[in-house]
Amino acid sequence: MSDDNTMEKIVSLAKRRGFIFQGSEIYGGLAGTWDYGPLGVALKNNIKELWWDMFVDRRDDMYGLDTAILMNEKAWEASGHTGAGFTDPLVECEKCKKRFREDHLKDTAKCPECGGVLGNKKDFNLMFETRVGAQGDMKSFLRPETAQGIFVNFKNVVDTMRPKLPFGIAQIGKAFRNEIAPRDFIFRTREFEQMEIEYFIDGQYWEQEFDKWREAVWAWLKALGLSEENIKEYDVPADELAHYSKRTIDFEYNYPGKGHDELLGLAYRTDHDLKSHMEASGEKLVYTPAEGEPFTPHVIEPSFGVDRTVMAVLSEAYTEDKMDGETRVFLKLKPELAPVKVAVFPLLKNRPELLEKAWDIYTELKKTIPQILFDDNGNVGKRYRRQDEIGTPWCVTVDFDTLEDNTVTVRDRDTGEQKRVALIDLVTVIRV
Ligand code: GAP
Repeated sequence: MSDDNTMEKIVSLAKRRGFIFQGSEIYGGLAGTWDYGPLGVALKNNIKELWWDMFVDRRDDMYGLDTAILMNEKAWEASGHTGAGFTDPLVECEKCKKRFREDHLKDTAKCPECGGVLGNKKDFNLMFETRVGAQGDMKSFLRPETAQGIFVNFKNVVDTMRPKLPFGIAQIGKAFRNEIAPRDFIFRTREFEQMEIEYFIDGQYWEQEFDKWREAVWAWLKALGLSEENIKEYDVPADELAHYSKRTIDFEYNYPGKGHDELLGLAYRTDHDLKSHMEASGEKLVYTPAEGEPFTPHVIEPSFGVDRTVMAVLSEAYTEDKMDGETRVFLKLKPELAPVKVAVFPLLKNRPELLEKAWDIYTELKKTIPQILFDDNGNVGKRYRRQDEIGTPWCVTVDFDTLEDNTVTVRDRDTGEQKRVALIDLVTVIRV
């Protein structure tokens, strides 16, 4: 139930309720950067934990890594990122000097801002360059993807963990791209996070392995609570594929006001990456099967953007309905993702016996449900609305009956229904 203003409403809610702020806001901001607030970081961490749990911890064929953001310059030469392969087409207006991504323009001759003539297209490299060391004589880059940290550690993982093919290496971390035109909230930013997997296979089975990952991606999207009708697969046509890729599917989400655009990518990258690093480093990047000769594995790469996932999850969850004759806004987040799972209220703030009991219940629940909140501000109705807006699935109210019979009122976010629950049963009702 989204309309043209839904994304604006989400951005406003995200700021107002402490999910996402403009980066460096008190200094007027820095284009393409966003800061996650207390609730935003909780939501983002919940997404990353769910991903790690599903793709690393619960599988026998996956290994985790956390590699350095700064890498030897040679790694970026070998991966092709310093060359023409990692550029966007840049055009500058001869009149107002504003710069644009040519492939985002409808008319590539005229400036969309002032109507001036646009100059010739230039290839603009997206990597942020930096200098390393006190003398600053060594060049390096902020990584534009986490994938290369995985490839350069392929041998380390094989030597230390002795995995059996097929197996994968996963990592979550920051990536940086000097985007010409950062836009659409956290959709295209200059600093973002990725969750990437490089899955190493015997090249002859690539189609079967690709299909398995395609299914795994759908299972992930379902676990996030994204509805199937909001997701579209874009099978990248052969003439648009990167030179090393034999097949890529972009999974696109239907962002409110924006329409379908990339959420994540699934690519078959052949043996291009390991071969390139092998050639450039002189190290043997091979896998030796129990029987047979060593060979360089091929790679299936599911690559997920954390921030775009946050944006899709917020878009899917944002709901307006009518409750008690008023319009209410709530985030219909899956309980696993909700930044606050349960809020505990004393019915009245000025009754010490209620406050004490409510704090006791809160403290006890917090032992098993750490993402919990205590609220005694305003009336209970207002507290419900505040929790609805941040997606808290359950509210627990402590009243005078609680003091007598150890029962509380549990209110469900989606239906607004309230039921009386014995304290002893509370953790079975609140199931995260
Ligand atoms: N290792 C492959 C790779 O990096 P990509 O399609 O360039 O592939 C993967 O990026 C994912 O990272 C994208 O699907 C998107 O979710 C996220 N991503 C890429 N650039 C981004 C940006 N400027 N801002 C936010 N997310 C971005």
